[in-house]
Amino acid sequence: MEALPSNGSPMEDKEFKSKVVLVTGGSRGIGKGIALEFAKQGAHIAFNYLRNEKAAEETQKEIEAFGVRCLRMRAHLGDAKKIKALFDAVRDEYGRLDVLVNNAASGVNLPADELQEKHWDWTMGINVKAGWLCAIEASELMVDGGHIINITSEGSRKVLPNYFAVGTSKSALEAVTRYLAVELASKDISVNAVSGGYVQTGALDAFPDKEKMVAEGQKTLSGRMVTAQDIADTVIFLCSPHADMIRGQIILVDGGATLRAH
Ligand SMILES: NC(=O)c1ccc[n+]([C@@H]2O[C@H](COP(=O)([O-])OP(=O)(O)OC[C@H]3O[C@@H](n4cnc5c(N)ncnc54)[C@H](OP(=O)(O)O)[C@@H]3O)[C@@H](O)[C@H]2O)c1
Repeated sequence: MEALPSNGSPMEDKEFKSKVVLVTGGSRGIGKGIALEFAKQGAHIAFNYLRNEKAAEETQKEIEAFGVRCLRMRAHLGDAKKIKALFDAVRDEYGRLDVLVNNAASGVNLPADELQEKHWDWTMGINVKAGWLCAIEASELMVDGGHIINITSEGSRKVLPNYFAVGTSKSALEAVTRYLAVELASKDISVNAVSGGYVQTGALDAFPDKEKMVAEGQKTLSGRMVTAQDIADTVIFLCSPHADMIRGQIILVDGGATLRAH
């Protein structure tokens, strides 16, 4: 039988043509994967980063290679004034925003009895407070409604070694997701979160038990680790009309790893 010609799926079309997408921490790892996927789908991109200028420059070039515009900005999300400056820059450059992805995260990897108060404040400031502040700033630029996606992790529910501060911050971010889903609905803004299994990024280098985490990450039902692309595909779906009835949810992309009893 002759194969039918492909008409192209909605995902193959430039579904986000001329939309404006801000990805926090979009210079590396999962954030970069998300920014590149939106750029591939035709969106203009803004992203911020903290320290790694070279990675940010490289990512900007890769985004622009898709023929879209890219605003790159160093902005520490632990500083409310820098968040304001980031959104002022987005307003000046694009005048609007359609999607915000709260992806950037930081944290001090220690057990609770070794963690200091300043470590707690640093982690919560970047992972939770910034998510709230960015969402409110974004909602003012979302003139035709929009989508906010928070990136979380399984440490919000499971207890992982040295993950006390970050895990707690992710639990709070998930609660922020639910509250904002309700409170921003009247502005036609949908809010959801994507949680991931272990993804090979620079973030894993900060853990003393990285090898164990990578081995653990391979125990998915697909027999491979989750990638930044897997997370990006889910974010794209949640920002599409196909996901209009998904609100305030935490979508887990872990290849089924957490189904197994250990
Ligand atoms: N990797 C995993 O296994 C995994 C699993 C589930 C969920 N997640 C979540 O996915 C997200 C991304 O993780 P990742 O592994 O891709 O991290 P990553 O590779 O360490 O990248 C982090 C990004 O955030 C930026 N950043 C960090 N602190 C910042 C700050 N204070 N202000 C502004 N930007 C800041 C970094 O910029 P610089 O490079 O300039 O510092 C970088 O662009 C996080 O929310 C993480 O919790 C990760």
